[in-house]
Amino acid sequence: MTDSTTVSERPEPPAVADPAGGAPIATPAAIPAAVPDGAPAEARCPFHAGAMAGAPGPGVLAGAGLAPAAAAGPKTMVLTGASRGIGHATVRLFAEAGWRIITCSRQPFDRARCPWEEGPDDHVQVDLNDLRALNLAIVDIKARLGGGPLHALINNAGISPKSPEGGRLSSLTTPVATWMEVLHVNFLAPVLLARGLFDELKAGQGTVVNVTSIVGSRVHPFAGTAYATSKAALACLTREMAHDFAPHGIRVNAIAPGEIKTDILSPDTEARLAPLIPMRRVGSPMEVAKVLHFLCSDAASYVTGEEIHINGGQAL
Ligand SMILES: NC(=O)c1ccc[n+]([C@@H]2O[C@H](COP(=O)([O-])OP(=O)(O)OC[C@H]3O[C@@H](n4cnc5c(N)ncnc54)[C@H](OP(=O)(O)O)[C@@H]3O)[C@@H](O)[C@H]2O)c1
Repeated sequence: MTDSTTVSERPEPPAVADPAGGAPIATPAAIPAAVPDGAPAEARCPFHAGAMAGAPGPGVLAGAGLAPAAAAGPKTMVLTGASRGIGHATVRLFAEAGWRIITCSRQPFDRARCPWEEGPDDHVQVDLNDLRALNLAIVDIKARLGGGPLHALINNAGISPKSPEGGRLSSLTTPVATWMEVLHVNFLAPVLLARGLFDELKAGQGTVVNVTSIVGSRVHPFAGTAYATSKAALACLTREMAHDFAPHGIRVNAIAPGEIKTDILSPDTEARLAPLIPMRRVGSPMEVAKVLHFLCSDAASYVTGEEIHINGGQAL
């Protein structure tokens, strides 16, 4: 619908409630018009009106979703592929912010590598390529949640098979079994988990983040055809899920990393591709985890159906 009202015709807007539940937002009409001569610069600035009116500073941060989760009670997340790489950094960051994290991957919990306290109790050992095991894992996760809400599901686990020599598997060379495994782990498991945990996500007014990839939208020298196709499909699925889950108060977004220094990279990736990336380096897992944290925070309360690219400008 087109807004045909001209600027001069618009009535003065009243103060409006923040849809995220914060304090009313001061509109220009609500800001005191005059400040005494000689008052400090901040007092003249409309952006400091809240401070002038005595609004507590930390409340502003909490309203923006920047306070630790513990301040509003612990939040709970399910994270697949937590045992190394991007998932590992994500557990570290969210644990520091006070979240409870239920992790999922094929390997058992490794206390030597994972310093978080609740780790062994909240780890679900599951092969996401096994449909029966996936369904049992959903039952297990529900039991661990004990009827409580789920605030975030991060579908991070992924595989990127290469040829025996470490080369790219193309559309001419990818075995059928590889296609099936890649599509199952990278694409199907995310939607089955989200559907299986729908009630808990709805109770938590939670958020789903799917980890896609830069290769979902361009051919890559190392990443294979099945992997690229699974990530393109996951980006499409993110859009579809965002549409379907939004009326229930659940946001669904994706992040698309470029070259991030983890085990999934081919040995030559950093040397060959870093010089071609505008920022001249590959990314770190923690740089990805921070964007995940943003999407799972109230700072992103009106963001859904988006795919955020994290690639140092590689796609420019
Ligand atoms: N690193 C990059 O440059 C990059 C770029 C674009 C996108 N991504 C995406 O980012 C995500 C994380 O990648 P990463 O680089 O951190 O990879 P990674 O270091 O290889 O870690 C992959 C994780 O997925 C788990 N996993 C693999 N297959 C599984 C299965 N069948 N069932 C359950 N868990 C499984 C692994 O745990 P177990 O071995 O214990 O099962 C591991 O924790 C992936 O979706 C990947 O496609 C990465």
